[in-house]
Parts: sequence; structure tokens; C-alpha cells
Amino acid sequence: MKVLAICGSMREGSSTGRAIDVILAAAKAAGASEVEKLSLRELGLPMCDGRPEGEPYGPEVEDFRARVRAADAIVVGSPEYHGSLTGALKNALDLLGPEYMRGKMVGLLATASGEAGAMNTLNHLRHICRWMEAWVLPYQVSIPTASSAFGPDGEVLRPGLTEELERLGSELVRYAGLLAGS
Ligand SMILES: Cc1cc2nc3c(=O)[nH]c(=O)nc-3n(C[C@H](O)[C@H](O)[C@H](O)COP(=O)(O)O)c2cc1C
Repeated sequence: MKVLAICGSMREGSSTGRAIDVILAAAKAAGASEVEKLSLRELGLPMCDGRPEGEPYGPEVEDFRARVRAADAIVVGSPEYHGSLTGALKNALDLLGPEYMRGKMVGLLATASGEAGAMNTLNHLRHICRWMEAWVLPYQVSIPTASSAFGPDGEVLRPGLTEELERLGSELVRYAGLLAGS
């Protein structure tokens, strides 16, 4: 099983990316044969302009679409920007037709600087993934005051957070396996 993570932050040293690393390590430990993190910072995706599938954008979008198509399960992670997911992540998802996510298990993670956490972002992502016909895990992780949750080398500092992230990674593999009938 291949698990792909899309990190919606374009910031170097992103806390969302650090959390994704823990989730992917747990997915691997739970039996995923391959895990991969896609950083929008590195993909160089153009803005979606609504052109039909037959009119290609170029190799960056083709490569992005191929990676999503090849994944069996997907982690979608975003910082909360003004009460929602980042524009960069929404644009990346807009570049995918529903067929790329259809029927796949998705796990959600969001980070925020505020103490209230990122529930709005998680709700918006769940709504978008439903439109894309994916199965979204009921369990999800919101990380409030995210800058203090990780140390300089990406280590998790907050008590209990490692367990939350590991649960997301292992549940994603478990339920993706059930969905595939294995
Ligand atoms: C444009 C912008 C808007 C933001 N809006 C919110 C917000 O609405 N609520 C919040 O708690 N944090 C907000 N933040 C803070 C980020 O969500 C927070 O720093 C997050 O952990 C960054 O994730 P990253 O380290 O993965 O980039 C905002 C940050 C930026 C740059």
C-alpha cells in the first residue's frame, strides 16, 4: 500500500510538514509499503484556470496528478489561514479532478497558531474531500499553538501529540486495507 501526504504549507520548516513526518512513519510501521510527502513549496504548481483535462498544464501538474493517482491512501495537511486551508492547498486540489481521490481513504491534519486549533480547516477539508468522493477518516488531528509543538529538529515536544499523529497514520493504513478488502 502506498501512502501519499500532501503538505499544504509552503513555509520552510513547516510544523504541518513535521507532523506529517510522524504520521507517515506510523503508516510505514502499520504496514504501508511506501510513503511519500509532497511539499507544495517544491512542486511549483501553476494556478488552476479551469481548463479541461485534455489541455495540459505541463509536467509539474502531470507529475503531481500521477503521484496522487498512484496512491492508495492520502494524508492531507494544512495550516489554518484566515479560518480555512491555505490557498496553495486549495489550488493543488483544484488541479485534481474527482477521479484522483475517488474511493481513497484520506486522513486529515491541520495546524494553527491560535489556542482554538484548526477545526474550521479540518471541517473545510472534510467537505472538499467529500466533493472529491474520498472516504475521510472520522479521526483527525488539530494542532493548536503549533510553533511550540515541535523542537528545532522537528521533534515533538507536546505531550500526547505523537500518539495522536501515530493513531492517524495507523488508522489510515488499517481502514485503507479494509476498503481494499485485504
Ligand atoms: C496568512 C496567514 C493566515 C493565518 N490565519 C490563521 C488563523 O486564522 N488562525 C490561526 O490560529 N492561525 C493562523 N495563522 C497561523 C498558522 O496557521 C500557523 O502559524 C501554522 O502553524 C503554520 O503552519 P506551518 O508551520 O506548517 O506553515 C495564519 C498564518 C498566515 C501566514
